Amino acid sequence: MTAVVIDNIGELTTNVDDEPALHDAAIVLDEGRIAWVGESAGAPAADRHLDAGGRAVLPGWVDSHSHLVFAGDRTSEFEARVAGQPYAAGGILSTVRATRAASDAQLEATIVRLRQEALEQGTTFMETKTGYSLNVEGEVRSARLAARHADDVTFLGAHVVGPGRDADEYVDEVIHVMLPQVRGYVRWADVFCEQGAFGPDHARAILAVARDAGLGTRIHANQLSQGEGVQIGVEVGAASVDHCNHLSDADIDALVGAASRPDGPTVATLVPCCDVSTRQPFAPARRLLDAGVPVALATDCNPGTSFTTSMGYCVATAVLQMGLSVREAVFAATAGGAAALRRTDVGRIVVGARADVQILDAPSTVHLAYRPGVPLTWAVFRGGVRVR
Ligand code: NIG
Ligand code: FE
Repeated sequence: MTAVVIDNIGELTTNVDDEPALHDAAIVLDEGRIAWVGESAGAPAADRHLDAGGRAVLPGWVDSHSHLVFAGDRTSEFEARVAGQPYAAGGILSTVRATRAASDAQLEATIVRLRQEALEQGTTFMETKTGYSLNVEGEVRSARLAARHADDVTFLGAHVVGPGRDADEYVDEVIHVMLPQVRGYVRWADVFCEQGAFGPDHARAILAVARDAGLGTRIHANQLSQGEGVQIGVEVGAASVDHCNHLSDADIDALVGAASRPDGPTVATLVPCCDVSTRQPFAPARRLLDAGVPVALATDCNPGTSFTTSMGYCVATAVLQMGLSVREAVFAATAGGAAALRRTDVGRIVVGARADVQILDAPSTVHLAYRPGVPLTWAVFRGGVRVR
């Protein structure tokens, strides 16, 4: 693999400790890794050279929450919602019908299309979930197809109770039949803990078994109402509690308590597009950050509540409507996502990290919020390879 030097960087966001953004900087990508970071004037020669022209360079987005394995369309549900109908977990079942009926090739084409769409907008690392088949064969198929195209895969057999099934019996199947069969394809297990999905006892049982089987855990928690989801996430040592719209002080205290755990914190993963699209109150991002809770931003790309692959949209919304600074939002969408996936190889521009880098057609990351909705991606490198 040829080494690339990118120089004349107007603003370089490294996410290393509290290091401020560097100016007049350069980086070298070699063998898929970041090989050098420093001042532009001192940059070593490399096989190839890219003049960033004073543009802003930052780590590729780490999207730590998406649901790309689905078929069908929920435009009408979305239209009804914007006309005033509230969102309820049951909408998932219409996607389940379409997903079960789709061929492998149809499902795979959707995953590839959305993964490519994300990559072209700077997302160099993307997690995705199963959870739209809700039977053994379909969940295993979803995990197998996801594993071909996503960087990390999460088993979400416990999205809602399989149609026509008794909840206890379904949870038993998730634990004893699905989990062992998806095990080879997934790194994570997730549960949607909510009224209309799974209650606290079921969520605890599934996540405890998944953890004991060696999977990492995460949970859809406190999305539509207050509940025990966040507490359960902290209890089982989950890497992430996702959504977090309805938090009590005790929930925030529990996350603060987990922040210094030796095996890693429980990150609060916030999904602003879902909040806007379902008209939920925004997650209390400012309260979480001020309390010292690590925060990630993710798209939650799915056909029901958040049909976007744009991490730029998430960053802009977090800044414009949730009270984050640009620096906090960019960190949450890169290093925060990496923490939510317990990875140290992505989300930072530091020697030895995976060479996942994006260049904006703008002089600073401030433009991500200053020019919302504008496609600012100028170049993307993933593992040192230019993919856009
Ligand atoms: O993250 N909250 C549960 N799951 C998805 C929505 C799924 C759907 O409505 O299809 C979410 O919002
Ligand atoms: Fe989700």
